[in-house]
Amino acid sequence: MIKIAPSILSADFVNLERDIKKIEACGADYVHVDVMDGIFVPNITIGIPVVAAIRKITDLPLDVHLMIDRPIRYVDDFIKAGADILTIHVEADTPENNLAAIKRIKELGAVPAVSIKPKTSTEEIIDLLPYCGLVLVMTVEPGFGGQSFMADQLHKVRALRRIIDATNPECELEVDGGVNPETAALCREAGANVLVAGSAVFGAADIEKRIRELRG
Ligand code: DX5
Ligand code: ZN
Repeated sequence: MIKIAPSILSADFVNLERDIKKIEACGADYVHVDVMDGIFVPNITIGIPVVAAIRKITDLPLDVHLMIDRPIRYVDDFIKAGADILTIHVEADTPENNLAAIKRIKELGAVPAVSIKPKTSTEEIIDLLPYCGLVLVMTVEPGFGGQSFMADQLHKVRALRRIIDATNPECELEVDGGVNPETAALCREAGANVLVAGSAVFGAADIEKRIRELRG
């Protein structure tokens, strides 16, 4: 079963509650929350108080994607705020700190997850994979919504699908960036089971239909 995680980066921030209720009513599986710090990526978005506010208005799992430097510093805060899945980037800290962050996320009762940017190879996350409940493959350079899908990243999805099936079959495999009805089909075919989509969902005239199209 394919899960759809709309990224609220493309929602109307003035009407965030309305937009989150809308995706909930339209069949979304997760709320994808993009946290950026202006250091790990060249953009600043939302932080801990906004995650806590969202927690109060939805029962959907919060899929929090940390695009921040040395995320271990904020793991406790984001989980306390209500993150259900907490994703760190493997490029954001040392292997030792990344492993400690992943273990801490698990200890606090959330789903530990790790993401790779387009220029990072799958080998970088092999040591973390046994501890993860989700792996995220970026199909754009992280930082902004509305970019074009990088089809040259699909080989990583295929490779990770094979490794996950063989070693940690409970682990989810998520794709993020430029996902629309056409590219969603490529992601599903490559073995992804969670699709993040920002502009394709919130820019759609009929959100329910769009979520159905993405799910395939
Ligand atoms: C990009 C973010 C994505 C982004 C996706 O750095 O991680 O979640 O919001 O937006 P679309 O689906 O518009 O590419
Ligand atoms: Zn994201």
